[in-house]
Amino acid sequence: MKLPLLAATSALLQSVYVSSSNLNNLNLQNALQSVLSASPHFSSSSSSPPNILLVITDDQDLQLDSIDYTPHITRHIRDQGTFYRNHFVTTALCCPSRVSLWTGRQAHNTNVTDVHPPYGGYPKFVDRGFNDNFLPVWLQQAGYDTYYTGKLFNAHTVDNYHSPHVNGFNGSDFLLDPYTYSYLNSTYQRNQDAPVSYEGYHTTDVITKKALGFLDDALEGERPFFLTVAPVAPHSDVNPGRALAGEIPIMTAPIPLERHEHLFKDVKVPRNENFNPDEPSGVSWVRDLPQQNQTVVDYNDHFYRSRLRALQGVDELVDALVSRVEQSEKLDNTYIIYTSDNGFHIGQHRLPPGKTCGFEEDIRVPLFIRGPGIPEGGVEDSVTTHIDLAPTIFELAGIPAREDFDGTAIPITDEFSGTRHEHVTVEYWGRAVVEGDYSGIGPDGLPQFPNNTYKSVRLLGEGYNFYYSVWCSNEHELYDLSTDPYQLHNLYPSTTPTATKEPQILGRSLSQVISRLDALLLVLKSCQGITCIKPWDVLQPGGSVSSLREALDEGYDAFYGEQPGVSFDWCAAGYIIAAEGAQVPLTTSRYGLPWDAWV
Ligand SMILES: *[C@@H]1O[C@H](CO)[C@@H](O)[C@H](O)[C@H]1NC(C)=O
Ligand SMILES: *[C@@H]1O[C@H](CO)[C@@H](O)[C@H](O)[C@H]1NC(C)=O
Ligand SMILES: *[C@@H]1O[C@H](CO)[C@@H](O)[C@H](O)[C@H]1NC(C)=O
Ligand SMILES: *[C@@H]1O[C@H](CO)[C@@H](O)[C@H](O)[C@H]1NC(C)=O
Ligand SMILES: *[C@@H]1O[C@H](CO)[C@@H](O)[C@H](O)[C@H]1NC(C)=O
Repeated sequence: MKLPLLAATSALLQSVYVSSSNLNNLNLQNALQSVLSASPHFSSSSSSPPNILLVITDDQDLQLDSIDYTPHITRHIRDQGTFYRNHFVTTALCCPSRVSLWTGRQAHNTNVTDVHPPYGGYPKFVDRGFNDNFLPVWLQQAGYDTYYTGKLFNAHTVDNYHSPHVNGFNGSDFLLDPYTYSYLNSTYQRNQDAPVSYEGYHTTDVITKKALGFLDDALEGERPFFLTVAPVAPHSDVNPGRALAGEIPIMTAPIPLERHEHLFKDVKVPRNENFNPDEPSGVSWVRDLPQQNQTVVDYNDHFYRSRLRALQGVDELVDALVSRVEQSEKLDNTYIIYTSDNGFHIGQHRLPPGKTCGFEEDIRVPLFIRGPGIPEGGVEDSVTTHIDLAPTIFELAGIPAREDFDGTAIPITDEFSGTRHEHVTVEYWGRAVVEGDYSGIGPDGLPQFPNNTYKSVRLLGEGYNFYYSVWCSNEHELYDLSTDPYQLHNLYPSTTPTATKEPQILGRSLSQVISRLDALLLVLKSCQGITCIKPWDVLQPGGSVSSLREALDEGYDAFYGEQPGVSFDWCAAGYIIAAEGAQVPLTTSRYGLPWDAWV
């Protein structure tokens, strides 16, 4: 494949740097630095910015208990640091989620929404100017030496890796398509060298060697380092044959290292209430799935065990990496972050193995961070997301946040400078990804669920716990996870409710709660920067409302009753604004009366 080399991005790039027109950058930086130097994570370290080691697994779930099977990761990172147990991704698919992580922006602002062109993949990342404008580039500009090994993006291939090369890394060794997920025949590409095939070696053994090599370089260096290690496990195995023949690849159970093949013989997918349920649940394409027979259930259990076995190699990789950091004199000034690019479901709601849905299994991922100032054995309940990670790393490195960050630094210490938030914006465009031997690939060789386009808000506040989504078919879902943690009972009314029969939630009628959630989603689905962080300020400027509970005040019923609403005109496979209904909410300032008249 030939890639168009992109121009015309420099104007865009310049405009996204923190503007100095109305901000005094120097003062901002001084203020930030004094805040940072007062905080415990800096007082316990030297004056030099900290080192950062980031491990990103591929498709690792939180909800299906994968973190209970990785003792080294528990011992070295979770127990020595903090578990952020309400951590979410904003798009449950590898490439869009990774681009959001590397830029601190929602997928609707990166417009990298898929794994392949025209809507996603490495070419789209380059097209959008991000190769000159993402986390490693910014960290290099701030004086870091940066290293990367493993999978970066999809559609980063043996044909396009040099047009252009990935920017921002002092040392890199990338897995390349179509061999990225070929556990026993991977291809890696180092710095500016030609790709090398590792036929006959297990990909996790290969990446372990490469990662330790870069870690040694990093530890020997004079400057602070940022090293990312991104193994493919526990992602499915993909035999490159079909991709080379131009067909949609089939994803099968991951392949563990030989020494782990025998493990977990009796382990099965957790039989939570939403596992292959008797009653259908979810949006119509999910609700229409047949209940799985014993053959499929057995296969799914095998698939699940294969993932846990494949993760053992990652557990050993982390053991080797962290042990080496622990033996170095740099441990005291190093943060270690462990997470995944998106979650995974197997059999929940009768779904075949896969991701791309908005259910808890898909959007929740592990996040553990250890380092100076971070409580040992801590558990943090604040809502945090992948777009918060770049702002968090900026804070650790002492770099002022960018205005185009849609996320905000997460509370790793009490002195963090970010904004606590109760919402997660979840968005998806295009096909549902289905995996395994019973994935539902149709006679045309294509997965059967093309219209998996939706917008959602996940809301976790004081005394409430909701998931609200609007689909491109204009179907809606509303789950109250405080009473329905497995998302089996859609509360969204199928007919217009009569006032007398409406259920009450938080002391208000269901339709009043929905009006607030829908208005919030209308803001979030096209938010940018601060409006993604403080969405209620868009609806009701002035700071009088900063949570669902506050917005539920009866005094605002008329105002929320007149919002245009989230809707779609058709199901598009990418971010086509014309398909996405109303773009601008009604705000109190445009409602004819000043906001304070509404209190
Ligand atoms: C890493 O790359 C940056 C940017 O090119 C450069 O300034 C720095 O000197 C490099 N570090 C090393 C150790 O070569
Ligand atoms: C392994 O990958 C290389 C390309 O990197 C390819 O030439 C070779 O045929 C592959 N081997 C198998 C067994 O598929
Ligand atoms: C179970 O379901 C799968 C997938 O629909 C089907 O291929 C298989 O034949 C079924 N097996 C039995 C024993 O019914
Ligand atoms: C998907 O959506 C498109 C456009 O909205 C529609 O024409 C098509 O019938 C839908 N396909 C399925 C399988 O629902
Ligand atoms: C996103 O990218 C697609 C594919 O290039 C393009 O058609 C669409 O207009 C873009 N969306 C926005 C909002 O720029």
